Amino acid sequence: MIDPSTTPTLAPYLPAVSTGASGWTGPDVASFEFRATGSPFIDRIFETGELFDFDGQLHPMETYIPKRQGDLLYSLVRHLEPQRTLEIGLANGISALHIATGLQDNGIGHHLAIDPYQTTDWKSVGLASLCRAGLESWVSLDERPSHWAVPDLEQAECRVQFAFIDGSHLLDYVMTDFMTVDRILDVGGLIAFDDSDWPAVLHVIRFALTNRDYEVFPTGQVIEPSPGKPRHITRLVRRLVRRSNRLQRIVRPSFTIPDLERHVEGRCVVLRKTANDSRHALQGQPNEF
Ligand SMILES: C[S@@+](CC[C@H](N)C(=O)[O-])C[C@H]1O[C@@H](n2cnc3c(N)ncnc32)[C@H](O)[C@@H]1O
Repeated sequence: MIDPSTTPTLAPYLPAVSTGASGWTGPDVASFEFRATGSPFIDRIFETGELFDFDGQLHPMETYIPKRQGDLLYSLVRHLEPQRTLEIGLANGISALHIATGLQDNGIGHHLAIDPYQTTDWKSVGLASLCRAGLESWVSLDERPSHWAVPDLEQAECRVQFAFIDGSHLLDYVMTDFMTVDRILDVGGLIAFDDSDWPAVLHVIRFALTNRDYEVFPTGQVIEPSPGKPRHITRLVRRLVRRSNRLQRIVRPSFTIPDLERHVEGRCVVLRKTANDSRHALQGQPNEF
């Protein structure tokens, strides 16, 4: 049990250093390397499936990302050496543990976690885990919904270089998360989406790739690949559509160019921001996606 009077508290939410003019440009994509987090604390959680709150009460893991996805987040943080990382959806803290361990191993950076239900639904298990792992000085928490918290970061001129979106999975909320995070993400920065194979999340990824200056970041890791291959008839119809401009105007682009061909695959797709938004505000018609 952790004695509440000695429980270390997390750093204040908006750390004093504003990175408004960070000058950060990001590393060379080709230098990315996948590596295991190598944290005995995290390994033990995955072995036992058990987490503890501040009072020492046991909680089952329930909602969490798979270990290899955690290692992917860790590797991305090691690669980017970001000054600020952001996460929407803390829950039991499994993703935050990997991200914050990456910052700790880099020796630089700060992680901002956003979750309105950390105290109520999650009994502060995410926070307790970060404290038990000795990562409390690397992380801050905002217990408001992301559509309140992220715009405040923009107003405070806070910049981030890495974000993990894993909050509400409703289409409009994921889109809002993407839109608001994009506004504070440096060019060269990365956004990783959990549950990229869920229709709402996939929709937002397709939008980002067709309407905004984003590309898939090639991690070489497909987390939980989909088992199915397109059927013969699907491939045949696709070939026909590709040969006809008229058919292409009727059929959804996601059918003509399947996600696999865009390297959008598995549960955790990572996008890299290549430029700031330069669309004209009155450009009413989005590119089909
Ligand atoms: C799938 S869980 C996150 C799991 C966590 N990233 C992990 O792997 O350990 C989704 C989280 O999103 C949070 N959430 C739901 N709606 C939200 C919102 N509007 N803003 C921020 N977080 C939200 C929930 O409380 C929940 O903790």
